[in-house]
Amino acid sequence: MKSLQNKIVFITGASSGIGRAAAFAFAGEGADLIIAARRIDRLKEIELELKKKFKIDVLTIELDVRKKADVKKAVQSFKGKWRKIDILLNSAGLARGMSKIQEGDTEQWDEMIDTNVKGLLYVSREVIPLMTERMEGHVINLGSIAGHEVYPNGNVYCASKFAVNGISRAMRVDLYDKNIRVTTIDPGMVETEFSEVRFSGDKEKAKKVYEGFTCLNAQDIADTILWCALRPAHVNISEVIIMSTAQGSTMLLNRK
Ligand SMILES: NC(=O)c1ccc[n+]([C@@H]2O[C@H](COP(=O)([O-])OP(=O)(O)OC[C@H]3O[C@@H](n4cnc5c(N)ncnc54)[C@H](OP(=O)(O)O)[C@@H]3O)[C@@H](O)[C@H]2O)c1
Repeated sequence: MKSLQNKIVFITGASSGIGRAAAFAFAGEGADLIIAARRIDRLKEIELELKKKFKIDVLTIELDVRKKADVKKAVQSFKGKWRKIDILLNSAGLARGMSKIQEGDTEQWDEMIDTNVKGLLYVSREVIPLMTERMEGHVINLGSIAGHEVYPNGNVYCASKFAVNGISRAMRVDLYDKNIRVTTIDPGMVETEFSEVRFSGDKEKAKKVYEGFTCLNAQDIADTILWCALRPAHVNISEVIIMSTAQGSTMLLNRK
Protein backbone atom coordinates (compact mmCIF):
# COMPACT_ATOMS: atom_id res chain seq x y z
CA MET A 1 0.00 0.00 0.00
CA LYS A 2 1.33 3.42 -0.97
CA SER A 3 1.79 6.00 1.78
CA LEU A 4 -1.01 8.35 0.66
CA GLN A 5 -3.49 5.72 -0.54
CA ASN A 6 -7.07 6.82 0.25
CA LYS A 7 -5.90 10.35 1.04
CA ILE A 8 -7.32 13.40 -0.71
CA VAL A 9 -5.04 16.25 -1.76
CA PHE A 10 -6.50 19.53 -3.03
CA ILE A 11 -4.05 21.54 -5.14
CA THR A 12 -4.64 25.09 -6.38
CA GLY A 13 -2.44 26.27 -9.23
CA ALA A 14 -2.17 22.69 -10.50
CA SER A 15 -2.05 23.67 -14.18
CA SER A 16 1.63 24.64 -14.14
CA GLY A 17 4.96 24.68 -12.36
CA ILE A 18 5.12 23.70 -8.70
CA GLY A 19 1.42 22.81 -8.36
CA ARG A 20 1.56 20.54 -11.40
CA ALA A 21 4.75 18.81 -10.25
CA ALA A 22 3.25 18.35 -6.78
CA ALA A 23 0.17 16.72 -8.34
CA PHE A 24 2.39 14.06 -9.91
CA ALA A 25 4.39 13.64 -6.70
CA PHE A 26 1.27 13.10 -4.58
CA ALA A 27 -0.25 10.81 -7.22
CA GLY A 28 2.91 8.72 -7.11
CA GLU A 29 2.14 8.03 -3.45
CA GLY A 30 -1.39 6.94 -4.32
CA ALA A 31 -3.34 10.06 -3.28
CA ASP A 32 -6.57 11.01 -5.04
CA LEU A 33 -6.46 14.60 -6.22
CA ILE A 34 -8.61 17.66 -6.61
CA ILE A 35 -6.81 19.86 -9.11
CA ALA A 36 -7.78 23.48 -9.65
CA ALA A 37 -6.72 26.44 -11.78
CA ARG A 38 -8.21 28.76 -14.40
CA ARG A 39 -6.85 26.97 -17.51
CA ILE A 40 -9.25 24.04 -17.66
CA ASP A 41 -7.84 22.62 -20.92
CA ARG A 42 -4.47 22.14 -19.33
CA LEU A 43 -6.02 20.63 -16.23
CA LYS A 44 -7.98 18.15 -18.35
CA GLU A 45 -4.74 16.98 -19.99
CA ILE A 46 -3.07 16.66 -16.58
CA GLU A 47 -6.08 14.72 -15.29
CA LEU A 48 -5.81 12.23 -18.16
CA GLU A 49 -2.09 11.79 -17.65
CA LEU A 50 -2.47 11.30 -13.89
CA LYS A 51 -5.26 8.75 -14.26
CA LYS A 52 -3.39 6.79 -16.89
CA LYS A 53 -0.07 6.74 -15.08
CA PHE A 54 -1.17 6.30 -11.46
CA LYS A 55 -4.72 4.87 -11.63
CA ILE A 56 -5.96 7.41 -9.11
CA ASP A 57 -9.21 9.39 -8.91
CA VAL A 58 -9.00 13.00 -10.00
CA LEU A 59 -11.58 15.77 -9.59
CA THR A 60 -10.80 18.66 -11.88
CA ILE A 61 -12.22 22.12 -11.29
CA GLU A 62 -11.91 25.39 -13.16
CA LEU A 63 -11.38 27.96 -10.45
CA ASP A 64 -10.16 31.51 -10.14
CA VAL A 65 -9.12 31.77 -6.50
CA ARG A 66 -9.78 35.53 -6.56
CA LYS A 67 -13.50 34.91 -6.91
CA LYS A 68 -14.75 34.40 -3.37
CA ALA A 69 -18.24 33.19 -4.31
CA ASP A 70 -16.82 30.72 -6.85
CA VAL A 71 -14.38 29.32 -4.30
CA LYS A 72 -17.21 28.80 -1.83
CA LYS A 73 -19.41 27.18 -4.47
CA ALA A 74 -16.61 24.90 -5.64
CA VAL A 75 -15.80 23.59 -2.16
CA GLN A 76 -19.49 23.19 -1.33
CA SER A 77 -19.88 21.12 -4.50
CA PHE A 78 -17.44 18.48 -3.26
CA LYS A 79 -19.41 15.41 -2.34
CA GLY A 80 -18.67 12.14 -0.54
CA LYS A 81 -15.02 11.31 -0.14
CA TRP A 82 -13.97 14.58 -1.80
CA ARG A 83 -15.02 16.45 1.35
CA LYS A 84 -12.43 14.55 3.35
CA ILE A 85 -9.51 16.72 2.26
CA ASP A 86 -6.33 15.57 3.99
CA ILE A 87 -3.90 18.02 2.42
CA LEU A 88 -4.53 21.47 0.96
CA LEU A 89 -1.68 22.79 -1.20
CA ASN A 90 -2.12 26.51 -1.86
CA SER A 91 0.18 26.92 -4.86
CA ALA A 92 -1.86 29.35 -7.00
CA GLY A 93 0.09 32.56 -7.15
CA LEU A 94 1.91 35.00 -9.38
CA ALA A 95 4.12 38.02 -9.74
CA ARG A 96 3.27 40.80 -12.19
CA GLY A 97 5.90 43.28 -13.35
CA MET A 98 8.92 44.74 -11.62
CA SER A 99 9.05 48.46 -10.97
CA LYS A 100 9.85 51.03 -8.34
CA ILE A 101 7.08 51.55 -5.80
CA GLN A 102 6.45 55.09 -7.09
CA GLU A 103 5.99 53.77 -10.63
CA GLY A 104 4.00 50.63 -9.87
CA ASP A 105 0.96 49.56 -11.86
CA THR A 106 -1.91 49.42 -9.38
CA GLU A 107 -3.80 46.88 -11.54
CA GLN A 108 -0.84 44.53 -11.16
CA TRP A 109 -0.74 45.21 -7.41
CA ASP A 110 -4.42 44.25 -7.16
CA GLU A 111 -3.85 41.07 -9.13
CA MET A 112 -0.98 39.94 -6.90
CA ILE A 113 -2.71 40.76 -3.64
CA ASP A 114 -6.04 39.32 -4.80
CA THR A 115 -4.40 36.05 -5.88
CA ASN A 116 -1.51 35.46 -3.49
CA VAL A 117 -3.15 36.78 -0.33
CA LYS A 118 -6.92 36.95 -0.67
CA GLY A 119 -7.23 33.91 -2.95
CA LEU A 120 -5.18 31.80 -0.57
CA LEU A 121 -7.38 33.00 2.31
CA TYR A 122 -10.65 32.30 0.48
CA VAL A 123 -9.64 28.72 -0.35
CA SER A 124 -8.30 28.09 3.14
CA ARG A 125 -11.44 29.53 4.75
CA GLU A 126 -13.60 27.00 2.91
CA VAL A 127 -11.34 23.96 3.31
CA ILE A 128 -10.04 24.28 6.87
CA PRO A 129 -13.49 23.82 8.50
CA LEU A 130 -13.68 20.42 6.75
CA MET A 131 -10.39 19.60 8.47
CA THR A 132 -11.29 20.92 11.92
CA GLU A 133 -14.51 18.89 11.77
CA ARG A 134 -12.40 15.74 11.39
CA MET A 135 -9.58 16.98 13.66
CA GLU A 136 -7.12 16.09 10.93
CA GLY A 137 -5.39 17.81 8.05
CA HIS A 138 -2.37 19.56 6.62
CA VAL A 139 -2.27 22.98 4.97
CA ILE A 140 0.79 23.66 2.81
CA ASN A 141 1.24 27.21 1.56
CA LEU A 142 3.60 28.38 -1.16
CA GLY A 143 5.39 31.38 0.26
CA SER A 144 8.78 32.55 -1.00
CA ILE A 145 12.12 33.85 0.17
CA ALA A 146 10.51 37.11 -1.01
CA GLY A 147 8.39 36.73 2.12
CA HIS A 148 11.51 37.01 4.27
CA GLU A 149 13.63 39.46 2.37
CA VAL A 150 12.60 42.21 -0.08
CA TYR A 151 14.44 42.92 -3.32
CA PRO A 152 14.53 46.07 -5.48
CA ASN A 153 11.41 46.50 -7.64
CA GLY A 154 9.76 43.46 -6.03
CA ASN A 155 7.82 45.58 -3.51
CA VAL A 156 4.20 44.35 -3.76
CA TYR A 157 5.04 40.76 -4.74
CA CYS A 158 7.34 40.62 -1.70
CA ALA A 159 4.63 42.16 0.47
CA SER A 160 2.16 39.52 -0.71
CA LYS A 161 4.61 36.78 0.30
CA PHE A 162 5.32 38.45 3.66
CA ALA A 163 1.55 38.18 4.08
CA VAL A 164 1.64 34.46 3.23
CA ASN A 165 4.35 34.05 5.85
CA GLY A 166 2.17 35.85 8.43
CA ILE A 167 -0.94 33.91 7.45
CA SER A 168 0.95 30.61 7.74
CA ARG A 169 2.14 31.50 11.25
CA ALA A 170 -1.36 32.61 12.18
CA MET A 171 -2.84 29.36 10.87
CA ARG A 172 -0.35 27.45 12.98
CA VAL A 173 -1.34 29.20 16.22
CA ASP A 174 -5.04 28.86 15.42
CA LEU A 175 -4.88 25.20 14.40
CA TYR A 176 -2.26 23.50 16.59
CA ASP A 177 -4.97 22.30 18.97
CA LYS A 178 -7.01 20.83 16.12
CA ASN A 179 -4.38 18.32 15.03
CA ILE A 180 -3.84 20.26 11.80
CA ARG A 181 -0.37 20.74 10.41
CA VAL A 182 0.63 23.96 8.69
CA THR A 183 3.69 24.26 6.49
CA THR A 184 5.03 27.11 4.42
CA ILE A 185 7.40 26.25 1.58
CA ASP A 186 9.54 29.28 0.77
CA PRO A 187 11.64 28.81 -2.36
CA GLY A 188 14.17 31.05 -4.00
CA MET A 189 14.19 31.05 -7.80
CA VAL A 190 12.46 28.09 -9.44
CA GLU A 191 12.32 27.72 -13.21
CA THR A 192 8.61 27.53 -14.06
CA GLU A 193 6.25 29.78 -16.00
CA PHE A 194 6.56 32.27 -13.14
CA SER A 195 8.83 34.75 -14.99
CA GLU A 196 6.86 34.45 -18.21
CA VAL A 197 3.75 35.44 -16.27
CA ARG A 198 5.65 38.20 -14.45
CA PHE A 199 6.82 39.68 -17.78
CA SER A 200 3.42 39.26 -19.46
CA GLY A 201 4.41 36.51 -21.89
CA ASP A 202 7.87 37.84 -22.86
CA LYS A 203 9.60 34.46 -23.18
CA GLU A 204 13.04 35.91 -24.02
CA LYS A 205 13.09 38.13 -20.95
CA ALA A 206 11.82 35.25 -18.83
CA LYS A 207 14.51 32.88 -20.13
CA LYS A 208 17.26 35.33 -19.18
CA VAL A 209 16.21 35.17 -15.52
CA TYR A 210 17.42 31.57 -15.33
CA GLU A 211 20.59 31.86 -17.41
CA GLY A 212 24.11 31.20 -16.14
CA PHE A 213 23.32 29.09 -13.09
CA THR A 214 21.56 25.87 -12.16
CA CYS A 215 18.14 26.94 -10.98
CA LEU A 216 15.76 24.93 -8.82
CA ASN A 217 13.02 23.23 -10.81
CA ALA A 218 9.42 22.42 -9.96
CA GLN A 219 10.33 18.82 -9.17
CA ASP A 220 12.78 19.96 -6.46
CA ILE A 221 9.94 21.81 -4.74
CA ALA A 222 7.44 18.99 -5.25
CA ASP A 223 9.90 16.57 -3.61
CA THR A 224 10.18 18.94 -0.64
CA ILE A 225 6.42 19.35 -0.35
CA LEU A 226 5.97 15.58 -0.41
CA TRP A 227 8.69 15.12 2.20
CA CYS A 228 6.85 17.52 4.54
CA ALA A 229 3.58 15.67 3.94
CA LEU A 230 5.14 12.28 4.65
CA ARG A 231 6.60 13.12 8.08
CA PRO A 232 5.04 11.12 10.93
CA ALA A 233 1.71 12.55 12.11
CA HIS A 234 3.26 14.16 15.22
CA VAL A 235 5.85 16.09 13.17
CA ASN A 236 4.97 19.51 11.74
CA ILE A 237 7.50 21.11 9.42
CA SER A 238 6.58 24.76 9.92
CA GLU A 239 8.78 26.41 7.35
CA VAL A 240 11.18 25.36 4.62
CA ILE A 241 13.48 27.87 2.95
CA ILE A 242 14.98 26.32 -0.16
CA MET A 243 17.27 27.90 -2.71
CA SER A 244 19.56 26.88 -5.55
CA THR A 245 23.12 26.32 -4.36
CA ALA A 246 24.01 29.26 -6.63
CA GLN A 247 21.60 31.62 -4.87
CA GLY A 248 22.81 33.36 -1.70
CA SER A 249 19.83 35.61 -1.06
CA THR A 250 17.05 37.28 -3.06
CA MET A 251 19.73 39.50 -4.56
CA LEU A 252 22.83 37.29 -4.72
CA LEU A 253 23.18 34.92 -7.62
CA ASN A 254 26.37 33.21 -8.76
CA ARG A 255 25.90 33.47 -12.53
CA LYS A 256 28.75 32.16 -14.69
N1 LIG B 1 8.93 30.11 -9.54
C1 LIG B 1 9.52 30.75 -8.56
O1 LIG B 1 10.65 31.26 -8.68
C2 LIG B 1 8.82 30.84 -7.22
C3 LIG B 1 9.60 31.17 -6.09
C4 LIG B 1 8.98 31.27 -4.86
C5 LIG B 1 7.63 31.06 -4.75
N2 LIG B 1 6.88 30.77 -5.85
C6 LIG B 1 5.44 30.59 -5.67
O2 LIG B 1 5.07 29.29 -6.08
C7 LIG B 1 3.70 29.28 -6.48
C8 LIG B 1 3.59 28.55 -7.81
O3 LIG B 1 4.29 29.28 -8.81
P1 LIG B 1 5.05 28.57 -10.02
O4 LIG B 1 6.48 28.94 -9.93
O5 LIG B 1 4.65 27.18 -10.09
O6 LIG B 1 4.45 29.45 -11.24
P2 LIG B 1 3.56 29.01 -12.52
O7 LIG B 1 4.23 27.94 -13.28
O8 LIG B 1 3.25 30.30 -13.22
O9 LIG B 1 2.22 28.43 -11.84
C9 LIG B 1 1.31 29.26 -11.18
C10 LIG B 1 -0.01 28.55 -11.01
O10 LIG B 1 -0.91 29.41 -10.31
C11 LIG B 1 -2.15 29.39 -10.98
N3 LIG B 1 -2.90 30.64 -10.78
C12 LIG B 1 -2.46 31.90 -10.97
N4 LIG B 1 -3.46 32.77 -10.72
C13 LIG B 1 -4.54 32.03 -10.37
C14 LIG B 1 -5.88 32.33 -10.02
N5 LIG B 1 -6.32 33.60 -9.96
N6 LIG B 1 -6.72 31.32 -9.71
C15 LIG B 1 -6.29 30.04 -9.76
N7 LIG B 1 -5.04 29.68 -10.09
C16 LIG B 1 -4.18 30.66 -10.40
C17 LIG B 1 -1.80 29.16 -12.45
O11 LIG B 1 -2.89 28.56 -13.14
P3 LIG B 1 -3.87 29.27 -14.19
O12 LIG B 1 -3.09 30.35 -14.87
O13 LIG B 1 -4.26 28.15 -15.10
O14 LIG B 1 -5.00 29.78 -13.37
C18 LIG B 1 -0.67 28.17 -12.32
O15 LIG B 1 -1.17 26.86 -12.22
C19 LIG B 1 3.25 30.74 -6.52
O16 LIG B 1 2.54 31.01 -5.34
C20 LIG B 1 4.57 31.51 -6.53
O17 LIG B 1 4.43 32.78 -5.97
C21 LIG B 1 7.45 30.64 -7.09
